[in-house]
Parts: sequence; structure tokens; C-alpha cells
Amino acid sequence: MRINRFLAEQGVASRRGADEIVAAGRVTINGKVAQAGDKVTPSDVVALDGRELSHSVKYEYYLLNKPKGCVCTVSDERTERPRKTVMDFLPAGAGRVFPVGRLDYDTEGLLILTNDGALAYRLTAPQTEIPKTYLVKVEGSMTAVQLNRLREGVEIGKGVVTKKCRVNVIETDKSYTKLHVTLTEGKNHEVRRMFEVVGKPVQFLKRIKLGELTLRGLGRGECRKLSAEEVFYLQNL
Ligand code: URA
Repeated sequence: MRINRFLAEQGVASRRGADEIVAAGRVTINGKVAQAGDKVTPSDVVALDGRELSHSVKYEYYLLNKPKGCVCTVSDERTERPRKTVMDFLPAGAGRVFPVGRLDYDTEGLLILTNDGALAYRLTAPQTEIPKTYLVKVEGSMTAVQLNRLREGVEIGKGVVTKKCRVNVIETDKSYTKLHVTLTEGKNHEVRRMFEVVGKPVQFLKRIKLGELTLRGLGRGECRKLSAEEVFYLQNL
């Protein structure tokens, strides 16, 4: 593998950043200063600023209770007045992780951040059908017809129909209804678009579960490392 990719996978820098580090002469391969484009194999000794780098990638896994009002990207693309991102909630010293999937700017809740691309793929690939549960609040009450339309699938765009899903009312009174909605897919703005279609715009949206993983004990804006058991659970979901 090329030296810049190796450095990026170690979490040292982005690929472009890694090029600059190499160009600055800070990297050696088997004691010789590395050049851009050099390749490394697992038997090579690679060092940055004289410190040897391990060949095994150190994966990191975080669980964030995302608050609303931040974007699910590594950096906000808006250059003027960039918005807060989910990266702002990581603990100091966290590696170069990235958010797994997206929650909207105004959506709260459970978000995994990791540098493990294989797990990220598993959790977001449509064919794995991993259940994700949302707490939804809408104004007023909902009819059985509206609920059943959501359960059976609704057309949220030209030819885009949602899969069957679980929808349960958990609390209702004259002014609002709270529901749990469990989806096994993740189309863009899916929950909001589904409820728009049945005439009940979402007032509040929070992801509360991924499989059986919950946010228990984690306040809004708090972030913690996943335990080895939790990582194993997600890898085998
Ligand atoms: N569905 C949405 O509409 N928004 C989210 O953030 C997640 C699921």
C-alpha cells in the first residue's frame, strides 16, 4: 500500500495531509526518508518523527447522543459561518473517526462514530436491514388509516416507496402523539418524508435504538466509547 494511505489508515492525517508529512521528510521506511508514492508492506518499519508506527489499525468506536443543531459530517462544507458538527462532541484525543450514516441537522439521538469502514458499511448497507428505532412526535392525533399507511409503505418521492415498518403509538393526548417507528432501511430524511406524506409533519425526531443498542445513561451531547461487547454485538447484528 502507498505510504500516504498507510499514514491515513493509522489516523495520522488525511491522505493529502499525509503527502505533506512525507514531503516534509518526517517519515522513514526502514530508516530511509520516505518519498511520495513509496509503498510499504507489513514487514517494513515505518516511523513518523522517529516514532515507529504499528501496522495494525487501531479502530475506535464511539456512541454519541447527538443534539439537534449540528451536522453529521467531519467538517461543515459551508465556509461562511460553518456549523457545529458531530465531531465537536468527541472526547479529546479521539482518532480520525467519521459518523456512520446521517441524522438530520434537527434530529437528535443515537449515532456511531468509528474509523472501522467495514462496520460502517454493515450498519448502513440496505441489504443488512438493521433495525433503527425513532421516537417521533407529531401534532394532534393520528388515525388508524394514517398509521397503517406508514406501516405498509408510502411513496416519499417519484417511485420511491418505503419498506414495511413497525409503527406504535406510545403516548397521545389531544395536542400531540408520540410514536416509535422502526425502519430497516435508511433513505434520505425518510421518517420526516413518511409523515409529511400522511399529512402529519414531524415536530420532534430522535433515534433511540440501533438493533438493541440504546442511549441508556448518555445525556444529550454526551459521547462515550463503545465496549468490546457492544462492538462485537454490532459486528454480528
Ligand atoms: N429520518 C429522518 O427523516 N431524519 C433523520 O435524521 C433520520 C431518519
